[in-house]
Amino acid sequence: TRIFVPRDAAARAVGADKVAAAIAEETKRKGLSVEIVRTGSRGLFWLEPLIEVETAGGRIGFGPVTAKDVASLFADGLPAASHALCVGRPEEIPFLKKQTRITFARCGIVDPLSLADYRAHGGWRGLERARSLGPAATVEEVTRSGLRGRGGAGFPTGIKWKTVADTAADRKYIVCNADEGDSGTYADRMIMEGDPFVLIEGMAIAGFAVGATKGYIYIRSEYPDAIRVMERAIVLAEGEGLLGAEAKFDLEVRVGAGAYVCGEETSLLESLEGKRGQVRAKPPLPAHKGLFGKPTVINNLISLATVPFILADGAERYAALGVGRSRGTMPIQLAGNVKHGGLFEAAFGLTLGEIVEDIGGGTRSGRPARAVQVGGPLGAYFPRKLFDTPFDYEAFAALDGLIGHGGVVVFDDTVDMAHQARFALEFCAIESCGKCTPCRIGSVRGTETMDKIIRGERVEANLALVTDLCQTLKFGSLCALGGFTPYPVMSAIRHFPEDFDRPRLQAAAE
Ligand code: NAI
Ligand code: SF4
Repeated sequence: TRIFVPRDAAARAVGADKVAAAIAEETKRKGLSVEIVRTGSRGLFWLEPLIEVETAGGRIGFGPVTAKDVASLFADGLPAASHALCVGRPEEIPFLKKQTRITFARCGIVDPLSLADYRAHGGWRGLERARSLGPAATVEEVTRSGLRGRGGAGFPTGIKWKTVADTAADRKYIVCNADEGDSGTYADRMIMEGDPFVLIEGMAIAGFAVGATKGYIYIRSEYPDAIRVMERAIVLAEGEGLLGAEAKFDLEVRVGAGAYVCGEETSLLESLEGKRGQVRAKPPLPAHKGLFGKPTVINNLISLATVPFILADGAERYAALGVGRSRGTMPIQLAGNVKHGGLFEAAFGLTLGEIVEDIGGGTRSGRPARAVQVGGPLGAYFPRKLFDTPFDYEAFAALDGLIGHGGVVVFDDTVDMAHQARFALEFCAIESCGKCTPCRIGSVRGTETMDKIIRGERVEANLALVTDLCQTLKFGSLCALGGFTPYPVMSAIRHFPEDFDRPRLQAAAE
């Protein structure tokens, strides 16, 4: 009997390794014949460690399991459905049942480092189809799917590929951006730890499509597990001739040093070249002159990991999902003060309220949700009155927000939005690469000014100053770090004005 225990970092953080060790010991002691398979996570974080036991009727889940629960789970042989920790068939849990799993179809199910598992679950079909279509038709297929950059900017992936394919050069590169710096996001990490071959396949397809023979995966150093799994997966794929000379495509992992700005594509390229991670001016676009001055496809990990499905099952299947110009699915990552935190892959179009209340189950504290920050630390804060906003690129942009990489961080009614606005400016000050003045200096002055507002000093005049500074940041910054910092600051001021009325708050406190 196979017992599945996640090795995903989120599950390990709450004791999955101890649970696996306890199961190994207990089953040995009892003489039970079991095989423990370490998987990725299903993304139901509040149930981690979620172990699954193979039965004739499919897998049955138990969670959250601690090492202490193991003795009772195996008291009468294999864990039974009558045990208090049984959650039934994982696929029937509403959080999983309501999802449309495409990019994450295998995550939490397969052994991440089993090539046999990958193939048995539909792996390599996309690459095979790409090869039968030829490079130009492969690019065309990606364009027709409507896939847009899942890093956050939402630029059409197929058009980016076509730009690289059409640029003549002796050498081209594929770069996967796995720097995933946004607060509350973990989709890239989950793929690397739970289904690394899908990324390898996606990058091999990209290489074939644009004529690149070398790929780099740039992973943030804060992801040691992902780095280890990815490196091992590359060695395994090379052993099978799926990468390397025979496949005409090499892949290498490079580890970042922990700067948020190195997730910005040109800064990432500088870092890959061994230089300090500073933003380059565009143009030239990386698609024309990228890594080492050569045409480069630089895509977010989720964009690349979605390509195998598009090629295998066809652009139409993917494009049939979603709303407006936001086609396909998005891995929504729920975090912060939320009852059911985790990854929810769904077609675009759910409302923010559905995401927070129905899927997330409301706040963990049980208090009313007051603000939701969508799209990482540079994303806008949404108040309850905008909970009817559909989750798609255009709807969020129309409200001066962004869906970014799909991070959704929930706050209850104890949040102080003036402090959140200050946090955004301070974040910008700490993470600024220093290249342009509004971001380098403006963020520091902005933080000081916000401190004055919080202390209740000349609030009206200082708010006008911050608003003016945000205009300068928005239009005078070279990259999104400085350019988007106004989103959290101005949304906090606009949607939660009562939190900036410090004299009134101070009077009320006294
Ligand atoms: P951008 O809009 O400048 O560019 C988007 C992409 O399209 C880039 O790769 C660019 O090179 C490419 N592109 C633009 N025009 C093109 C053309 N004509 N032909 C070919 N390629 C073209 O946006 P940027 O600065 O790359 O990204 C900003 C986004 O990053 C934000 O929306 C934010 O949500 C996101 N972000 C994500 C983070 C994460 O952890 N995933 C962290 C911070 C920000
Ligand atoms: Fe660097 Fe900030 Fe300018 Fe971006 S906006 S290039 S992070 S100084």
